[in-house]
Amino acid sequence: MPFPEQRPRRLRINENIRRMVRENSLSVDDLVYPVFVCHGSGQSFPIDSMPGIYRYSVDMLLRELEEIVKLKIPAILPFGLPAQKDEAGSGAYAEDGIIQQAVRAVKREYPDLTVITDLCLCEYTDHGHCGIILDNYVMNDPTLELLARTAVSHAAAGADIIAPSDMMDGRVGAIRTALDKNGYVNIPVMAYSAKYCSAFYGPFRDAADSAPKFGDRRSYQMDPANSDEALREVRLDIEEGADIVMVKPALAYMDIIRRVRDEFGFPVAAYNVSGEYSMVKAAANNGWVDEKRIVMEILTGIKRAGADIVITYHAREAAKWLQD
Ligand code: PBG
Repeated sequence: MPFPEQRPRRLRINENIRRMVRENSLSVDDLVYPVFVCHGSGQSFPIDSMPGIYRYSVDMLLRELEEIVKLKIPAILPFGLPAQKDEAGSGAYAEDGIIQQAVRAVKREYPDLTVITDLCLCEYTDHGHCGIILDNYVMNDPTLELLARTAVSHAAAGADIIAPSDMMDGRVGAIRTALDKNGYVNIPVMAYSAKYCSAFYGPFRDAADSAPKFGDRRSYQMDPANSDEALREVRLDIEEGADIVMVKPALAYMDIIRRVRDEFGFPVAAYNVSGEYSMVKAAANNGWVDEKRIVMEILTGIKRAGADIVITYHAREAAKWLQD
């Protein structure tokens, strides 16, 4: 029955009817807030390329989190800036490493806030790559041992979920085995399964001081041109024991989010990354777009694409807007 029997505008006539037929909605329950932590006390450094985002020392982070908890954002994703870096990224698995200290402090102060730890070596290696280097190549299997060790140290510090973002082959299995062997059978792994080699990580690398000192990450992160490969990566991670799978970045990869959701029916996380945030902030600060409407449209779009969990630097503001 075409027009005039069918008039789709009938269901858009007022807000109540629009609410009744709305297919997707964003909730604070969906949000994860990434944070940057550094050593020292009383420190809060603004990150120029990410307006509104800071590197905090642990004491200042605890203050910042008061609002996050009040807003009922369920989880944070802390990234650490170590005091020193070395070839093997030892700050990543040091017992008193920055993440280990931060996690212990956060869980002591806010036991009900879920802490997801990003598991990678690039913030901790002096060369800035996500694994051990031999002849300018990131070695896969030797890196797995360090990742497994880091995962166990995060769990020992009190992390609730471990999120490997390195893109080494076999890391999910190695981490799962190590966690289980150490008694952490109930700690889920949220795998950065389809993580693309993306220019959208630019501002993050300023924030976390994690840009590679030579070359790039193309020998381990995925080619943005690929889609079937993302499904193979996700399948492998699920077979190795991943509980939640992630697509990253989000906006240029909405099709991947949808394919992963349709194919596997596993919980899907999408990472609305630093460059995606910075572009919105830059345009909004120039008065070129309506920030609130743009952010809500982006986050709702990521949900509509099929994500259950949205990791976003907009989380604090979005949670406030959702309350209004
Ligand atoms: C660590 C890691 C990165 C991001 C999250 N974990 C950077 C990278 O892979 O270079 C990027 C997050 C963002 O851009 O917001 N490997």
